Amino acid sequence: MCGIVGYVGKKDCTQVLIDSLSKLEYRGYDSAGIAVFENGGIHVEKSKGRLKDLEEKMKKDGRPYGHCGIGHTRWATHGEPSDINSHPHGNKRISIVHNGIIENYKVLKTFLMEQGYGFESETDTETVAKLLDYYYNGDPLDTITHILAEIQGSFALGIMFRDFPGKIFAVRKDSPLIVGTSEGENFIASDVPAILKYTKEYYLLEADEIAVLDENEVKFYNVHKARITKELQVANWDIDAAEKGGYEHFMLKEIHEQPTAVKTTISPRIAEGLPYLEESGLSTDMLKGYRRIFIVACGTAMHAGLVGKYVIEKLARVEVTVDIASEFRYRNPLIEPEDLVILISQSGETADTLAALRLAKDRGATAMSVVNVKGSSIARESDIVIYTHAGPEISVASTKAYTVQLSIMYLLAFELAYAKGVISKEKCMELTASLSEIPEIYENVLELKNRCQFIASKLVNADSLLYIGRGLDYALSMEGSLKLKEISYIHSEAYAAGELKHGTISLVTESMPVIAIATQQDLYDKTVSNVKEVKARGAKVFMVCREGVEVDEDVADYTICVPSIDDLLMPLVVSIPMQLIAYYTSVLKGCDVDKPRNLAKSVTVE
Ligand code: F6R
Repeated sequence: MCGIVGYVGKKDCTQVLIDSLSKLEYRGYDSAGIAVFENGGIHVEKSKGRLKDLEEKMKKDGRPYGHCGIGHTRWATHGEPSDINSHPHGNKRISIVHNGIIENYKVLKTFLMEQGYGFESETDTETVAKLLDYYYNGDPLDTITHILAEIQGSFALGIMFRDFPGKIFAVRKDSPLIVGTSEGENFIASDVPAILKYTKEYYLLEADEIAVLDENEVKFYNVHKARITKELQVANWDIDAAEKGGYEHFMLKEIHEQPTAVKTTISPRIAEGLPYLEESGLSTDMLKGYRRIFIVACGTAMHAGLVGKYVIEKLARVEVTVDIASEFRYRNPLIEPEDLVILISQSGETADTLAALRLAKDRGATAMSVVNVKGSSIARESDIVIYTHAGPEISVASTKAYTVQLSIMYLLAFELAYAKGVISKEKCMELTASLSEIPEIYENVLELKNRCQFIASKLVNADSLLYIGRGLDYALSMEGSLKLKEISYIHSEAYAAGELKHGTISLVTESMPVIAIATQQDLYDKTVSNVKEVKARGAKVFMVCREGVEVDEDVADYTICVPSIDDLLMPLVVSIPMQLIAYYTSVLKGCDVDKPRNLAKSVTVE
């Protein structure tokens, strides 16, 4: 979702802002803009479209030149993508960029109109800019604390006052913002990749804290305008992690990073052959003491939760409920203080997942998160955090973040099952050893690239597809289907294979390809029966099965044979061909693979 950057130092600010914004493109956006101090004023340039459109516009309008400025990529919420609605907003003396949603903007707008303010955009952000102007008394800190008392909702704001050239003010609540720092220059940004080229050192701004930056220093204040000190963070990602590194797309690069991502995530969590999650603050005693487990997440992260449910229930015999975060809090869930609520999130900023976390804590349950981004809101507010170590995921479609989330689900399931005495130490060690083999197995799975490209060439002209499977294969079907539709724009649905004949099979014709996942040995024959049902209705069948399994011609038209491992771990293996099929289909269709239309990487609004 919207990206914010800010720079103050000695460099050409416009260049730094554009460069930093380009590192936030993955968040999704439909317009962009910058504001730069120049010749005693604030020079604003903004444009609908991509950063290159903004650059083109600046070629005509004149490119601002200065050493201090703010920039923004906007993902439209209030008002269509247009030049007028793009950020920065403000007037000659104040300029702001905003990420988030101001919930009470209508009330504030009415008030400001009564005071004689006119509005040109449809955005909630313009209200904040005008409110700042209304309260402006020559003291920026005072002005900002005034508006903090009035605006409701989620926000991260970068602010410049014409009267304070060379200074950037920043404040946030519920939308992420970091403050990067280096010798003679300082930055603000929505996310670490934006500043990695310049510095690895940054501060995490907390709710209602105000940062004041000039080229020499950063000062932090609380809402009472009192100075506060903050702990310096150091990013453990380097610039290469946020570059394509020779791959055509970030998605392909990230698919290839999975052996390392899984290894880095699980290795520190295995001790003497057994899962070891104590370093995250989760002891075995705590784990076995929970009454029930809720897993709450969105999209791909929720799909990781579905695999988690299956594996935890099967191995540990503990009840697990999986919820879509946007539904969870509105169904008044029956959470008790003895329950464990697991929030899964790559970004750690997803608004619905964050709201679910807060609800869980309000009800007295333990909130544990599985998060990829260090210091993100969900991580900071959780009782227990298990970090996944996928590194930055830039492509909007989640790949490596999903497989590391799965890896944590497995470790949790193994540890819980052993702690509860449902499986023996030997079985737990055996499963953990199998999980440790995954990074190596991945190297072989990635060899399926050409096969997946071939399969994609057979799917590219389809209007609609079905993914089917049973048990864990069904959970994987959902993720495969989501991946395909989000980046190739081909409609697809995932169905439990045995459920087809209760309605959906009426859709099946020769123009509806079916991807059937059949890796679960105990369910194989049953899945094959379902596959025959669709084949008999003319569907072209693409079957994913284990290596060594003979698939008759009357069952599948094409097969993708994946390396074999314990049934429970097969989702980890099958996820890669699912990602590759979606990737190549998207490439063949000429879609914008890393930045699919209408989507944002970090969904910070409900
Ligand atoms: C799909 C995808 C999304 C995210 C979802 C949750 O490829 O990436 O479905 O999984 O928006 O995001 P996080 O994990 O950041 O909470």
